[in-house]
This record gives sequence, structure tokens and C-alpha cells, in this order.
Amino acid sequence: MSAQTETRRLSVADIARMYDDGVPIPMLTAYDYPTARILDEAGIPILLVGDSVGGAMLGYDDEMAVSMTDMLHHTAAVTRGAKRALVVGDMPFLSYATPEKGVTNGGRFLAEAGAQAVKVEGGLRTARTIEALVKAGIPVMGHIGWTPQSANRAGKVKVQGKTREQARALLGDALAVQDAGCFAVVLELVPEQLARAITERLAIPTIGIGAGPGCSGQVQVITDLLGLEEWHPKHAKPYVDLRAAIGDAVRAYSRDVSAGTFPGPEQTVRMADDVLAEVLGTGANDRPTSVGVTSVIPLDRDL
Ligand code: KIV
Repeated sequence: MSAQTETRRLSVADIARMYDDGVPIPMLTAYDYPTARILDEAGIPILLVGDSVGGAMLGYDDEMAVSMTDMLHHTAAVTRGAKRALVVGDMPFLSYATPEKGVTNGGRFLAEAGAQAVKVEGGLRTARTIEALVKAGIPVMGHIGWTPQSANRAGKVKVQGKTREQARALLGDALAVQDAGCFAVVLELVPEQLARAITERLAIPTIGIGAGPGCSGQVQVITDLLGLEEWHPKHAKPYVDLRAAIGDAVRAYSRDVSAGTFPGPEQTVRMADDVLAEVLGTGANDRPTSVGVTSVIPLDRDL
């Protein structure tokens, strides 16, 4: 019997089992192959290839600039890196404006990029699209509360659901995406009491970001967690200062190159000296040329 056990890709059924067993679900964004490998090996069960890739990795001003081409490219890199995690591709702005468009583009995340599910923003207003996706066999994660793709309508980033009307609407959105068939829903920037109340009323996991500890799971943007930016949102906790660590590492490298101490013997390959001498014609038996330089490599003009 082989000592190695096959790594099995998690499915939405596994996430439902975690939820049923009351196991909190840690989810992270991932955008590239090496990071996906590390997060997967660390046991993170859900990797979200968020449209936050636009700001975090591509230097775009906002999520609206992120295209299907960007998303498929990054999702494919993540699915190549992660062997176990459920990979969720974030459907970009306008890619699910109608149910038909949603099914065509959502299908591409699974068929071309190897994702197991997609995420769409919006509650009641996207319910028909969610239904169409689920009917087509595409598992869907909902996303309500602050939805970055609505920033042109909603204004600046702010906590959603603090007023009576907003809180009622958010509860309605949560129930709508559940009824439409979502296997989980992201609650972004929601007061913790409301997020907890929504979580208690749903039969699918809630994944919070800036929504307090009462959700079924949490999601964070990986660059915030790793401290890659000078600024991070209030809800984020950098667990390491990679920006400083990378800066220190590249400054040390630059110093070593300037001092001639990189590469050292460990990073350097040598060959037999007599082989090189023979090639250069500088061996003991070679006769020096008239100008004192020997050459066995004929130049074009000598031929
Ligand atoms: O794009 C993203 O990273 C997201 C998370 C914040 C949930 O949508």
C-alpha cells in the first residue's frame, strides 16, 4: 500500500459539513500560484480569488477595472497551486449583469480556470442570476453588505445596516441569496450584532469581513494579513510585516551585490581549470600568439 494519500479537493458539501459540525471556516483571498500553495498547505479550506486582485496585485484604482481575462488568469494560477482548497472565483463587474451572461461567464471560471464555485455581489437584486447559475451546476457564494462593485452608486466605503431600513434590507438580502441557492454568503462591513442575527437565521454559512466574530467563518484579504501594504482597514490584522521583511531582504541583497559578496561560493559553480585553459589556449603546452593573447576560437575574419 502506498504511504502517500491522494489529496482530495474540497467541495461545497465539505464546507456544509464543517458548518453543520460547528467548525469555524477560515477563508483567505489568493491571487497567485506560490501563495495559493502556501495557504493550501496551511489547511485553509476556501481560497477566494477576489476582484480585490485589482487593487492588491494589479495597481488598479478600483474593482470596476477588473476584467474576466484578469480573473480567469489569476484563478487558473490559484487552482494550479492549491490541490485541496475549494477555489472560488469572484465574478467581476458587469460579468453577471443578466442571468444569461452570468451563466456563460460563471461557467468559464469552472471550465477554463478550474474553480469549484463563483462569488457574486448583491442580495435580492442578484437572486435570479444566482438561481440560474445554481441551476446550471455552478455553486455560488453570495456577497452582501458593503459590495465594492456598487461603489459608484453607494458612495464611499462604509458599514452597512446600521439603520432600521438598512438592517431590514440586509436581512432580506441574506434570505434571498440563501433561497436562490447560495452555499455560503459573505457579509462585508456589517455591525456585529446584525451579522450574528443573520447568521442565526440562515441555514448556510456566513463568512464575515468586518462583520465581527459571530459569523460562521471569516475572510481576509491576504495582502492585509501579510502586512504588504502601508495601510490596512480597521477589520484587518496583519499577522506579519512582510513589507518590512521584503524591504530588509532586498536592501541586504543590494548591499551584497555592491560589496561583491553576492554571489558567494555557495551560489557559484566552478569547472575544471585545465578544461578552460585548453579552450582558451592558455595551457602549459600552448604557444603565446605574437600579441601575447592566445585564441583557439577563430573569428569570422580569420576563416
Ligand atoms: O474581492 C474580495 O477580496 C472580496 C472579499 C473582500 C470578500 O470580495
